[in-house]
Amino acid sequence: MKSNLKLFLALSLLWSATLVMGQATVPWQVPAAKKSVKNPVAVSPAVIEKGKSLYITHCKSCHGDPGKGNGLPLVPKPTDPASDKYQGQTDGEMFFKIQTGRGAMPKFAEVISDNDKWSIIHFVRSLKKKSSAGAGEIILDTLPADLSVASASLSGQPITLKLKYRDSDTSLIATLTIVNEEGETVPAPGVPVAFFIRRYFGNLPISEEVDHTNQEGRVGVSIPRNLPGDTSGMLHIFARIAEPDKFGAASDSIDAICGKPSVMVNITEERTLWGRSRVAPLYIIITFFGALLIVWGTMGYVVMNVMKIAKKEA
Ligand code: HEC
Repeated sequence: MKSNLKLFLALSLLWSATLVMGQATVPWQVPAAKKSVKNPVAVSPAVIEKGKSLYITHCKSCHGDPGKGNGLPLVPKPTDPASDKYQGQTDGEMFFKIQTGRGAMPKFAEVISDNDKWSIIHFVRSLKKKSSAGAGEIILDTLPADLSVASASLSGQPITLKLKYRDSDTSLIATLTIVNEEGETVPAPGVPVAFFIRRYFGNLPISEEVDHTNQEGRVGVSIPRNLPGDTSGMLHIFARIAEPDKFGAASDSIDAICGKPSVMVNITEERTLWGRSRVAPLYIIITFFGALLIVWGTMGYVVMNVMKIAKKEA
């Protein structure tokens, strides 16, 4: 029985060891149909710049600075994006691997949008061109570029957001406009807008889903009743474009009296243990005066009895 157990343990150890080693050596197979997928995003300096900041945010921690081979020592090692091994893959292969992940390589299917993944691939490809042109090593120690600025120039047109509050049904309406090539202000349809209520610590989203502007460039949300506001029931509301890297950044804020007025309690006026004597808790006041009464009462009683003795002697 005992030797059976030993054999079982030894076998399972061997099995897991082969699994780990197998993972290190088995090439990452990508289905042929996925391999030949072409990058659908048109390349531009702005796209490469965006891919670079996405790489710094999501990939650099493991894959390191391209060309420096300073990735994390994982097994298998995250491939250096500037290496021939990495560059030898097709765009479709890269996309598939980023999409599905394997072992320590996370699955980015839902983490990064497809367009953003293709932008990272454009950035990685730009490394190859640079290094073969003799531009030397590329070190990515800069902070991610301000995405909103990059994309505003990407879409070309600055976008504006105006927020209005309608008292009759306590709703908010955001109107988005852009200035077109002819210099006219026109509605911006299909832009996702998120609404928030400003709090001391962070922002409270008003609705779970993000709605898009309609043909008139408008999108609305109704404010739930009974949200706690300040002492006058005021809520500080603001709205912004939910995907600033795609549509450009714009936001607007307003104050509306549609919340529940919150009653401010002044802790120095409450009966609390740490309060001043006037507002001490009742049980402390009763205990204190009770004890005082008992002590003085006992003393008075003793004095009265002593006086009785004195009278008898007289
Ligand atoms: C938590 C660490 C980690 C992060 C973060 C990470 N990777 Fe990886 N990556 C790995 C590891 C480990 C491998 C090797 C996996 C294997 O071969 O089983 C790998 C492999 C890859 C491969 C396949 C390379 C080859 O030679 O087959 C690609 C492509 C890739 N990563 C791209 C990315 C991109 C793009 C990002 C950012 C969006 C990213 N990775 C983020 C750890 C990471």
